[in-house]
Amino acid sequence: MQVKRIGVLTGGGDAPGLNGVIRAVVKTAINRYGLEVIGFKDGFYGLIMNKYLCLDLSSVSGIIHRGGTILGTSNRDNPFRFPVTENGKTVYRDVSDQAIANLQELGVDVLVVIGGDGSLSIAHDMSKKGLKVVGVPKTIDNDLFATDVTFGFDTAVRTATEALDKLHTTAESHHRIMVLEVMGRYGGWIALNAGIAGGADVILIPEIPFAYDRIKEKIEERRKDGKLFSIVVAAEGATEKEGQMVVAKYIKESTDPVRLGGIGQVVAERLAEITGLETRVTVLGHLQRGGSPTASDRILSTRFGVKAAELAAKGPWAQMVALHGTEIGCVELNEAVKALKKVDPEGEMVNAGKAVGISFGN
Ligand code: F6P
Repeated sequence: MQVKRIGVLTGGGDAPGLNGVIRAVVKTAINRYGLEVIGFKDGFYGLIMNKYLCLDLSSVSGIIHRGGTILGTSNRDNPFRFPVTENGKTVYRDVSDQAIANLQELGVDVLVVIGGDGSLSIAHDMSKKGLKVVGVPKTIDNDLFATDVTFGFDTAVRTATEALDKLHTTAESHHRIMVLEVMGRYGGWIALNAGIAGGADVILIPEIPFAYDRIKEKIEERRKDGKLFSIVVAAEGATEKEGQMVVAKYIKESTDPVRLGGIGQVVAERLAEITGLETRVTVLGHLQRGGSPTASDRILSTRFGVKAAELAAKGPWAQMVALHGTEIGCVELNEAVKALKKVDPEGEMVNAGKAVGISFGN
């Protein structure tokens, strides 16, 4: 089959580097394979509602340094469970056939989906219906197990590390405990990496349930050494031993309805109580998703985009591009969406953290 036209969309939460992928897909598809490219607006919503724009070389000019996505995104619109109003009520319908019909009418032969586990699972389900798809792994959380790294992660870690550098100076001046809550969903990758880079004293991650007494011990040990302040990084999914993740809200229509958040405040209050020390909390939130991508994310997103265009043009399809070691390759989509990547509590990175004196609260 001769591929002539491809579609591209960005789905799920945005991540710095999305524009780098779009740019590389468009440039490679046009310059190397002579293809036409259509961009769907706001993720799968654009596919379902037939909202798109033609992407030529000028539409992707000057965007590699820009955060966000020129196509827009959404983490709510799933073609297999799309909200429609019937008799004044919202009901959820499978409109995937409509989405595929839209692609056929537009003459789109292959769809490139740039997304996290939610969007890639949808892409996989669409490929089971016969659509030719290529996935590109995106998420600041770095929790996709079939690739060593996702783009957006490095920028999020940089942002969190800069925050820790700033918290250090004010913590030291006031002799306070500073708690920084970072994102990451069910994985502790951002907390672990930023915590090590930013010289945190305590790192709390979902993979290692914590006990307050152990955190207190670390803080007191530091005070005995004359270090009157302490820095705690808490991943949003961190849990006390036998405790539950702290949920900020539920978003019914979302591919993953749970929004974590609030553990930083809980930890700060409890530490103030048991240590008697002044404690403050900072929730970094969506700052981690914003801003200009780091050089590393610009390079990774470009490499991913070039590979995605190659796969779209020549196959094999139903693949996700991936980084393995230093090489860009691909893995079957069904393998890619099987599980999330977690921090190994006994692994080398946690061990390195412990060796330099970081407590994981366990
Ligand atoms: O998956 C990326 C992420 O930023 C998570 O770290 C966070 O839990 C979630 O998305 C926040 O989602 P929303 O943008 O819907 O608040």
